[in-house]
Parts: sequence; structure tokens; C-alpha cells
Amino acid sequence: MYQAVRGTMDILPEEQPYWRYVEQAIADISRLYGYRRIDTPIFEDTGLFSRSTGEYTDIVQKEMYTFDDRGGNSLTLKPEGTPPVCRAYIQHGLHNLPQPVKLYYICPIFRYDRPQAGRYRQHYQFGCEAIGDADPTLDAEVIDIAWRFYKSLGLNKISLQLNSIGCRQCRPVYLTVLKDYYAGYTDQLCADCKIRLEKNTLRLLDCKQASCRKIAESAPKSADHLCTECDEHFKKLQQYLGLLKIPFEMNHRLVRGLDYYTRTVFEIQPEEEGTQSTLGGGGRYDDLIEELGGKPTPAIGFACGIERIILNLKKEGVAIPVPDSLRVLIAYRGDAAREEAIKLAAGLRQAGISAVTTTGGKSLKAQMRQANSLNVRYAVIIGEDEVKAGTAVLRDMADARQETIAIGQLVERLR
Ligand code: HAM
Repeated sequence: MYQAVRGTMDILPEEQPYWRYVEQAIADISRLYGYRRIDTPIFEDTGLFSRSTGEYTDIVQKEMYTFDDRGGNSLTLKPEGTPPVCRAYIQHGLHNLPQPVKLYYICPIFRYDRPQAGRYRQHYQFGCEAIGDADPTLDAEVIDIAWRFYKSLGLNKISLQLNSIGCRQCRPVYLTVLKDYYAGYTDQLCADCKIRLEKNTLRLLDCKQASCRKIAESAPKSADHLCTECDEHFKKLQQYLGLLKIPFEMNHRLVRGLDYYTRTVFEIQPEEEGTQSTLGGGGRYDDLIEELGGKPTPAIGFACGIERIILNLKKEGVAIPVPDSLRVLIAYRGDAAREEAIKLAAGLRQAGISAVTTTGGKSLKAQMRQANSLNVRYAVIIGEDEVKAGTAVLRDMADARQETIAIGQLVERLR
């Protein structure tokens, strides 16, 4: 028997109301802030991700679904949404539009992660990117979108973690300070962190291993080593978040798992923390578009996993609107009645009323059981006598009241 591939899942009809609910909230929040939708292909040239997400990140080192196509090109299923949006921005000359260009997307993301609750090998992300402006107002706007989005969904037990990791000017200085600090602890670091110390120093700070975590707690803070411009930017952002009444916690260990970030980084966590808890995250990436061959173009964005949102909606017991169920089931007995049923179903649908006929010559009792289990509002019953009389029985399933009515009047009546 085939099973869905490990780390992937089917979204069955029972789950769909959650997805529609989240999608509606995404459409609403994007409209409110003036973000327009963009869709990019499921796969891209592998180089796009190794170049932008970062050669020494977990994503590029261990998690990409990479394959050669029949022409020998190395392609990769999208392991995150930001690089493709930047590629599209450059490719389609979006710098010619009024800046910043504000875009959002909903798309499947593929990462060869270790599957567990809230962590999948295919998951869906909602992301937004504001490209072409370095103003901290935009940082505040993107964080505001993230915050209001969760709130609009009814998620209240969340916290915002904030940090600034500086820019090309001040980061190297900070990294030297950080390396000096870690030099005193090399023999206590986990195997991954020993490599990070050389290849990706900043990520020493967010190692999940308890022993490394302890060392990171007392490490020098990037926010204390910012250049004047980055410091001003970070202070303004905090001031704007105050104006927007968005509470935040400074987290000097927050550096994010992707290499392109500059200055602002942030994450939204559920209050009750677990290993796979991050609901969403983002930050500024002022150098990325230039690194991909575009003009120097500052940008900031955010993305969140929809499955994790749904897990938290369930955990917090948020009530989800139930979609309308089917309105009418037409039950019948005999071939002549079946023909009336087929015509009536067509007429109801044409009038915009959802309707099904039963199939397979079941007893009327079995057909009524089906009407109950489908939760329809009305059943129409056409027996042999009714066919002869040109009538049908209309049953209101809510109160079991029945009336006999001319078949020709049913569509109008149900409308
Ligand atoms: P990320 O933090 O790698 O950022 O992913 C964003 C969100 O996707 C996470 O916070 C989490 O909710 C969800 N997520 C990640 N991996 C998985 C997984 N294996 N299973 C389920 N959910 C997952 C980015 O991808 C950046 N592109 C965000 C960004 C946009 N930065 C700037 N603009």
C-alpha cells in the first residue's frame, strides 16, 4: 500500500475550513496594507538558493530537494520564498515601479527536515516582501502585518522577539568580538557549533543544544555593537513599534537561520514554547538583490508556516466558520422518478442551489439516512405515486415537516 511520503500530508475535506479561514485572513491583511500577490515557480536554479539562502545554512547543506532535469540543469524545489521573489523583482525590472514594491505569496515549500508535529517536508508559507526602501517605517509595517495577522486569526498567546544583527560595516567587527568570546569555549561546543565557529559564526547564538545555549546566554550582543546608522535604525523601529502598541522582547540570541539578513530580525513565537514552535519570522535583507545581480536595493520581509498556524488555532480553541453544507438531496423510487430527480437537480443547480441525487437504487430509508449524514437542509422525495401526480414531497430536515408540492414549483420554492 502506498502512503503519503514521510513528512508530507493530505489535507482532507474536514481540514479545509481551517485552510479557507487562514487564506481569507491572508487576503484581508494583504489588501489592508496594499500588498499584491506574486506567484513564482515551484522550482528554480539551485544556484539561486545556495547564493542567497546561504551556502553554510542548514537549508542549503542538508534540506534542499535538488535534482538534475533531463537537460542536465540542477534545479531545486523552493525551500523558501524570498530568493525567487527577489529574482522576479530583478528579472521583470520591478525597480522601475514606485518603490517600495509590496508583494505577498502563498506557496508550498520543500525542506528535507526531520518530520515531527509542526515540521514537515512539504509545508505552505504565507510570506510578504517590501522591496526598495530602507526606512525603518517599513520594518515596523512588516512586523505590524505579522502581528495583526495572527491577532486577526484569533491567536492571542503569541510573543514578538526582536534583534538587530547590523550591516556590512558593523557585523564583521561584532563577529570578531563574538569569535574571541567563543575561543574560550571551543572544547565545550557541539560538533555543529565547532564548524559554525569558522563558517557561520552568528549561528552559534541560536544553537538548540543545552550546553551551547548556556554559553550563548552570556555572549556579547550584536545590538551593543551596531554602527551609528544601524543603531539609529533600530531605535526608530522600536519607537514605531511603541506607537503601534506592539509589545516586543529583545532577544540577543535571535539571528535567524538564513544568511541574507541585515539589521532587523524578528520572530513570532507561541507563548508556550516547544522545539518546533516558531510561528513566523523575517527581517531585513538589504544586500540580497545586489548579490543576485540587481542594483543595490534594500528590502524587508516575513513568512509563516500555515500548518503551524492551524496547529495553534486548534490549541487555542479558536472557532472556525463552518462552510455551508449541501442544501438539497433528492431521493426517489423507480426509473421514472429517477429521471425527474436528474432534471430537478439540474434545475436547482442552475438556480444556484446545491443539490445531489442519490444513486444505485437504495431504499428510501437508506436515502434519508444519507440525507442526514450529508447534513442537507432539505430532502425532496419522489416516489411512483408522486411521478404520476407530477408532485414531490419536500421535507425540511431541521424540523421534519413535510409538504407535497408540484414538481414544477420546487425550484422557485427552494430558491
Ligand atoms: P523561515 O523562518 O525559514 O523563513 O520560515 C518561515 C516559517 O515557515 C517558519 O517560521 C515556520 O513557521 C515555517 N516553517 C519553516 N520550516 C517548516 C517546516 N519544515 N514545516 C512547517 N513549517 C515550517 C523564511 O523562509 C524566510 N524566507 C522568511 C522571510 C521572508 N524573510 C524575509 N522575507
